[in-house]
Amino acid sequence: MSTLDDHTKEISEDTSGGAASAKSPDAKMEKQDNGPGGPIILFFILGVFASLIMGWIIFPKLLYSQKKQPIDFNHAFHVAEVENGCESCHFFRKDGTFSGAPKLEQCIDCHEEIQGVDPDEIKFVEEYVSKEREVPWLIYSKQPDCVFFSHVAHIKGADMDCVTCHGHIGESESLKIYEENRITGYSRDIWGKSIGGFKKNTWDRMKMDDCADCHQKYSANIEKTGVKTPTKRLVDHMIEVVSPGSSISGKGDSVQTERDACFVCHK
Ligand code: HEC
Ligand code: HEC
Ligand code: HEC
Ligand code: HEC
Ligand code: HEC
Repeated sequence: MSTLDDHTKEISEDTSGGAASAKSPDAKMEKQDNGPGGPIILFFILGVFASLIMGWIIFPKLLYSQKKQPIDFNHAFHVAEVENGCESCHFFRKDGTFSGAPKLEQCIDCHEEIQGVDPDEIKFVEEYVSKEREVPWLIYSKQPDCVFFSHVAHIKGADMDCVTCHGHIGESESLKIYEENRITGYSRDIWGKSIGGFKKNTWDRMKMDDCADCHQKYSANIEKTGVKTPTKRLVDHMIEVVSPGSSISGKGDSVQTERDACFVCHK
């Protein structure tokens, strides 16, 4: 078929007169010049795009499995509903330990019985409250077991805001999907959204270097101003009571250089 077509084209070009046949050798020359280079560059560009898509989109998709929280929870609504703000549900116990994710105890006053028509509330009351089962919340910020983290040192001691490390979960209307790394089993919030390691906000990632960077900045500030507030001293004392020997006060805390530096965050 095609050879027949080509023939008829050639014939028609030949017969169409001088102008056309004079052009055609030029056109052929041009084709030959660009011919080998074009496809190679094209393949190269396609290859770059393919590996970018593979590395930035497909690989992270495969690496993380998505899990839904057992029930959804509306922070914005509840914060307005309770009396003590965040502390109604996330508070410090007398010994300085942090309560973390709330237990049924913090909900039961209002959710003994179903109040409305919200399917998450109905599920919460039927599946958990009336069976006295704690909700197995998935913890976005959960660190590996070898890491020691103390909320009291950061919040009471250093007067930090929840947003610095957690982002705007406290103002959210629903809980985001939890993404679990299939290899390590850790939450994606530790290693960060961006596979390239870019970090726009302080809460985008919480790897060892992210903890250490801030500690280094902070100790540099202390050296400059020499400030050690009474709350700071109190907190040091509380930490010393809860886990003796963990206080880093007075020492520099470069992860690489300090002799006992590792034991600030690893027990
Ligand atoms: C009525 C109870 C309640 C109040 C009040 C409340 N929270 Fe929560 N919060 C929860 C529950 C339930 C979860 C568990 C969901 C989860 O696993 O993330 C949670 C989880 C969180 C988490 C996620 C921890 C993690 O890594 O998974 C953060 C951060 C948080 N709350 C911050 C806040 C802040 C900030 C406020 C105040 C503005 C606040 N919460 C007020 C009930 C409450
Ligand atoms: C001060 C009272 C109060 C407390 C404490 C409280 N709630 Fe609620 N909650 C409400 C009210 C009021 C509603 C709205 C009722 C409705 O329309 O279903 C609600 C709605 C809900 C809903 C459905 C809407 C949503 O958030 O997605 C869930 C789930 C829920 N609560 C879970 C909890 C959990 C878990 C706790 C404990 C950590 C808790 N609540 C503590 C008052 C409270
Ligand atoms: C300096 C960073 C930092 C700040 C500030 C901070 N958090 Fe956390 N938070 C963490 C880390 C890290 C974890 C994980 C701890 C672990 O897995 O051992 C965590 C865990 C949690 C959890 C889950 C605990 C659990 O396992 O049940 C809740 C809830 C929470 N934080 C709420 C808050 C609230 C509310 C505030 C503000 C009052 C706050 N955090 C401030 C870093 C921080
Ligand atoms: C945004 C800043 C910031 C981030 C992020 C941060 N920290 Fe801290 N951390 C501080 C400050 C400030 C203190 C108080 C320093 C002091 O007491 O000398 C502190 C104190 C501590 C202490 C108590 C040590 C002592 O001096 O008694 C531990 C343990 C700790 N951090 C672990 C961690 C871990 C683990 C992470 C990461 C998961 C982390 N921190 C992330 C700022 C930060
Ligand atoms: C400022 C807190 C901090 C200090 C100081 C610190 N680490 Fe870490 N380390 C972490 C956190 C948080 C993680 C978990 C997140 C990650 O893997 O980056 C971690 C993870 C690790 C892991 C991987 C463990 C695992 O199960 O994935 C090793 C190994 C480790 N640290 C060794 C060290 C050594 C050695 C030192 C001392 C030179 C040190 N760390 C000092 C916070 C710290």
